[in-house]
Order: sequence, then structure tokens, then C-alpha cells
Amino acid sequence: MISILIINGPNLNTLGKREPSIYGNLTLEEINRNMVKYGEKICKKNIKFDFFQSNHEGAIVDKINQAECDVIIINAAAFTHTSISIRDAILSCKIPTIEVHISNIYKREEFRKHSMISEVCLGQISGFGSNGYILAVQASVNIAQSKSNS
Ligand code: DQA
Repeated sequence: MISILIINGPNLNTLGKREPSIYGNLTLEEINRNMVKYGEKICKKNIKFDFFQSNHEGAIVDKINQAECDVIIINAAAFTHTSISIRDAILSCKIPTIEVHISNIYKREEFRKHSMISEVCLGQISGFGSNGYILAVQASVNIAQSKSNS
């Protein structure tokens, strides 16, 4: 069974009504449902998801500290650009982590161009809208399967 923890940071609970020209029209619940649908399709149901959203940096750090899963997918939202503590948590948990952004953070304001966490993540998906989460599920399954085959 492949297990994936999906962490979404501040203001992503308002997806659907938050700046739809940048973040699209889907709600976080709809995005999560699409991830489950896709994951179950490519893994024949041999996959489980834990979805976590918080507007609080410490709660995200706690969740990473307690994580027991094959892969973490994280959109740290605004904390991406500021949080040493989330970076340190990712580094110490030793679980392969994929960074996702709905928008292309390199095409926006200067302050969004630097990610505190990208150096400690396996890779980053940025600019593909909510489909980025689906791409991250695909990458997670590849990572988990290649780990179990080695
Ligand atoms: C975001 C980009 C961040 O700069 C921003 O603060 C967010 C969302 C994205 O998904 O594009 O809240 O992480």
C-alpha cells in the first residue's frame, strides 16, 4: 500500500474563491477528490491519502514531524518563501517530499521567486494549476514503487 501525505498551507482552504485567475476555480476538496480518483486509477486502489491543511506554521511542522508515509506532497503556500522551520522539518523527516505550487512562482512578484524548501525537496512542480497535484501523485507513485523494487 502506497501512502501519501498531502499538506496545504495558508489560504489554500479558500481555493475556489481566492484569486481564481491565478489559482483556478476548483476548491481544495475537489482537488483532493481528483487526486484520490487518479491515484486509485493508477494504483488499482493500492494507495492511501492523508490530507492536511493548516493556516498555522507550527501545525504544519508538527504534522511533518509525525509523518509516517512513503511520500509527502506539500504546497506550503506563503510559508514557502519564509519558513526555516518547515524546511528543517522536511530535512529531518527523511521522507521524500515534492513541492507543489498552483501558479508559476517564477513568473510573479520577486518575493515569490525564492523557495526556502526547494533545496530540501526532491523536486518542484510549479505553474500547472491544480493539475500540479495530479502530477505530484504520479511522481509519488513512481518514487514509492521504485523504492519497493530496490
Ligand atoms: C502558491 C504560491 C505562493 O506564493 C502563494 O503564497 C500561495 C500559493 C501556489 O500554489 O501557487 O499561497 O504556493
